[in-house]
Amino acid sequence: MIFSGEVALITGGSRGIGAAIAQELARTGARVAVGYRRRHEAAERVVSEIIQDGGDALSIELDVSSSDSVDAAFSQVEDAWGPVEILINNAGLTQDHLLLRMPSSGWSEVLDVNLTGPYRTIQRSLRGMLRARFGVIVNISSVVAQRGNPGQANYSAAKAGLEALTRTLSLELGSRGIRVNAVAPGFIETDMTEAMAGDWKDEISNRAALGRAGRSGEVARAVRFLASADASYITGITLVVDGGLSLGL
Ligand SMILES: NC(=O)c1ccc[n+]([C@@H]2O[C@H](COP(=O)([O-])OP(=O)(O)OC[C@H]3O[C@@H](n4cnc5c(N)ncnc54)[C@H](OP(=O)(O)O)[C@@H]3O)[C@@H](O)[C@H]2O)c1
Repeated sequence: MIFSGEVALITGGSRGIGAAIAQELARTGARVAVGYRRRHEAAERVVSEIIQDGGDALSIELDVSSSDSVDAAFSQVEDAWGPVEILINNAGLTQDHLLLRMPSSGWSEVLDVNLTGPYRTIQRSLRGMLRARFGVIVNISSVVAQRGNPGQANYSAAKAGLEALTRTLSLELGSRGIRVNAVAPGFIETDMTEAMAGDWKDEISNRAALGRAGRSGEVARAVRFLASADASYITGITLVVDGGLSLGL
C-alpha cells in the first residue's frame, strides 16, 4: 500500500478522470470522499466499486461554485473521518465559443468552476492542513493552459490561472508541510471529450507522439504519484500527461 488511510477528497469524482482518481487513491490505501455535483447515482456506483474491492469510500454532494456547499462537504468528511489531508481539485467544465461570440455567462461560469472553485476548496482545506502541518493538493489543469486553444479562451485562461495559483500556493504553504502541484492532461477519453466531432478526435489523438488518446487511469496514476510520499520533495510543478500531444511545432 502507498497510503495508510489518509483522507482524500476528490471534486467531480462521479465520472471521468475524477472517478479514476478516486479508484486509484482507494486502491492504494487512501480513504476517499467522492464529490459529485448532480450525479449522485454515478458517485454511489464509484463508491460501491471501491468498497467491493476492499477500499474505503463515501459520496459527498459538493458544488465547487458554492462556498456553502464546499463548507458542508468538508464538514461531512471531517465528521466521518477527520480533516481532509489530500485534496484533488478535479471538477471542471467547458463552454466553448470563439471570444467574439462568447456570452459573459460562459466566461464567468467556466472561470468560477475551474479556477474560483479550487480557491474555495483549498481555502477550506487549509483549516485542517495547517493545524496538522501536513497536506497535499493536486489541481487538474490542462495542456491548453500553456498551449492555448481556439474556442477555449475562458477554459485556457482558467487553467493557466490554476497553474499560477499552484505555484504561488506552493510558496505560501511549503514551510507548513503542504505540497501543491498540478497535473495537465492532454486529450483523454471522457464525457468532456465525447462531445467533439469524430474526425477532430481522430486528428488530435494522432497528433500525440504516442498516436492515441489518453485514458483516465493514466492521469489518475500521475495524480497518485504526486499525492504520495514518493513525491515528498516535489511542489509547485505542473506534470504534463499528454502522450506528447503538446510537443513539436
Ligand atoms: N478529458 C480531457 O481530455 C481533459 C483534458 C485536460 C483536462 N481535463 C480536466 O480534467 C478534469 C476532469 O475532466 P473530465 O474529462 O473527467 O470531465 P467530465 O467527464 O466532464 O467530468 C467533469 C466532472 O466535474 C464535475 N463538475 C462539473 N461542474 C462542477 C461543479 N460546479 N462542482 C462540482 N463538480 C462539478 C462533474 O460532476 P457531475 O457528474 O455531478 O456533473 C464531473 O464529475 C477537469 O478539470 C477537466 O478540465 C480533462
